[in-house]
Amino acid sequence: MPYAMGEYYERTSDYDLEYQSQSQLDIPFWLELVTRYTPQHVLELACGSGRIGLELLHLAGNFTLEGLDISAEMLGAYRRKLEQQPEALAQRVILHEGDMSSYQLANKGSFDLVLLPFNSVCHLYEIEQQLETFQTTYAHLAPGGRFVVDTFLPDIDYLSNALNRPSNVYLEDEIESPEDGFTMLLYTSRRYDQIEQVQHITWTHEKFFDSGEHERYLTKLDMHVFFPRELQLLFLSTGFAIEAIYGGYDWKPLGRGTRQIVVGRKQM
Ligand SMILES: C[S@@+](CC[C@H](N)C(=O)[O-])C[C@H]1O[C@@H](n2cnc3c(N)ncnc32)[C@H](O)[C@@H]1O
Repeated sequence: MPYAMGEYYERTSDYDLEYQSQSQLDIPFWLELVTRYTPQHVLELACGSGRIGLELLHLAGNFTLEGLDISAEMLGAYRRKLEQQPEALAQRVILHEGDMSSYQLANKGSFDLVLLPFNSVCHLYEIEQQLETFQTTYAHLAPGGRFVVDTFLPDIDYLSNALNRPSNVYLEDEIESPEDGFTMLLYTSRRYDQIEQVQHITWTHEKFFDSGEHERYLTKLDMHVFFPRELQLLFLSTGFAIEAIYGGYDWKPLGRGTRQIVVGRKQM
């Protein structure tokens, strides 16, 4: 079955605008995580436009940072931001265009930390793709290295409301961008397929320009829904030990309404 994603990640400036508020939530967590683990070689899978990576680079330590993403547009935005960074920081970064379920990097076997933040694991739709991602990542880690996956915890009420039919339309956000001269409203509607465990999301971006003009575009975005035991089994079935599970960016345990952040570890 073909899954939809592409266009959502082609409008990179809208992506960056949309997830500024997410950065306030998760960046402190990723900074703290890297500070605790003191890695030498970090890889971010599905690194996007560098929302997280660029912040990590400013931490103390001289670790190298590699980023891999399937979207040329997102990587282009990341590269443009790197050009604005001091040379010493930018030269610690290597970006790769590729699929996280089938990558082969020159530094395979030497990463001590691989990150898969902010629901990006949900773009792995087929079981084979999921297994390949975890197996490939295991092979890229050094002994004792960690793989950290962060995604939402499914909300049964929310999913059942969208079971096999479009749900309500939700107003997700209203974002003002004075520099660009517009206000953007973001709406979603979802249909949940419980057999494939996929949320078929339709996003509507609606921009109201100060000039009086108006623009609207629709994008489809499919997301696999990971139930907690399923995600943990993916780690365990591909050789990882589970070192920790957090419920969110505040490091608290899993619970109602939390996220799920799993830290898998390769054998020493
Ligand atoms: C929600 S964004 C996260 C980007 C970034 N990590 C962040 O937190 O802002 C998801 C990213 O996953 C990328 N992606 C989707 N499928 C992928 C795949 N199979 N391999 C690599 N990247 C993928 C998309 O291009 C997009 O940049």
